[in-house]
Amino acid sequence: MTSVDDRNLALELARVTEAAAIASARSMGQGDPTYSDQMAVSAMRAAFDAMHINGTVVIGEGERDEAPMLYIGEEVGRRAPHDPKMDIALDPLEGTNLCAYGRPGALALIAMAPQGCFLNAPDIYMKKIAAGPRARGAIDLDASPAQNLHRVAELKGVRVEELTAMILDRPRHEEVIAAIRKTGARIRLIEDGDVDAAIATCRPESGIDIMFGIGGAPEGVLAAAAMQCLGGEIQGRLMFYKDEERERARRIMGDRDIEALLTMHDLAHGEIVFAATGVTNGSILKGVRFFAGGCETHSLVMRSKSGTVRTIEAMHDFERKPAYTLEGLHENMADCGKPRH
Ligand code: FBP
Repeated sequence: MTSVDDRNLALELARVTEAAAIASARSMGQGDPTYSDQMAVSAMRAAFDAMHINGTVVIGEGERDEAPMLYIGEEVGRRAPHDPKMDIALDPLEGTNLCAYGRPGALALIAMAPQGCFLNAPDIYMKKIAAGPRARGAIDLDASPAQNLHRVAELKGVRVEELTAMILDRPRHEEVIAAIRKTGARIRLIEDGDVDAAIATCRPESGIDIMFGIGGAPEGVLAAAAMQCLGGEIQGRLMFYKDEERERARRIMGDRDIEALLTMHDLAHGEIVFAATGVTNGSILKGVRFFAGGCETHSLVMRSKSGTVRTIEAMHDFERKPAYTLEGLHENMADCGKPRH
């Protein structure tokens, strides 16, 4: 199996998330989620061409017939004969509405691993629970929120009332939220972005201890890839609301038990490289800041093999990188057959 020995690939990956973040950040607050998404997708797609990999998208923008770029099965990278074969899980703009409406927590994300290391998750919902390294082994998706919070508090040596849980603000979470409130634990409700929430449980500066709730299954794989690098833990289970979703899961997942509890290893394993760049300011990364002639980005780059977590603050000079100007980005979108609206 190909291994991610080339540490330079990690940095190359950050260039790709930076490109998507810069592009989508230009649309921040414009109130047009489609435009924000198109900016991120076309910039990420173009940036992949420079990567020394023979990549295949396994978690992407959707099935081939529903996504013109970065669809599941699309081959990306330079794809020279000796370039390593890699599976790619990506979300060019995690939190599309967060970016489109100028709210915190939007990220550009990519995880990369040798072939077969990511779960081929269908684009349906997944129930998830995640906690950071100090609470590893404490969480159980099938236990109650109170049981989980008490275990995490014990391992962290704090009172339950001193824990903070992050959860998507959705009507479907009313019961879980009520159960968490009953324990006295603090809650941070978010409008979108549960990959950011899972990562936040591993970053002490975020103040987040645990994440609960139902979000996208592809986001569950991306979060697991990040958690493998950060030493935290996530568990998931696919949620089916329609027969058609069950059929889709069976088709995509083959022999697997589609109802089973999915461990972090089931979701993502192997030598993973993960990169995230902030689009809007969030609990783990600052968003893109523009200034005269350039911009600044903040990224996380991590490898599961070494456990090294790098934060990269980068300055981009638009004179030398005209592709990052608004005109350059729009030109690239046109090249990709995706005009502004
Ligand atoms: P998008 O960026 O694809 O819109 O996803 C945002 C997100 O909040 C994810 O983080 C989360 O997993 C999912 O949507 C939740 O889905 P829903 O908005 O349908 O509750």
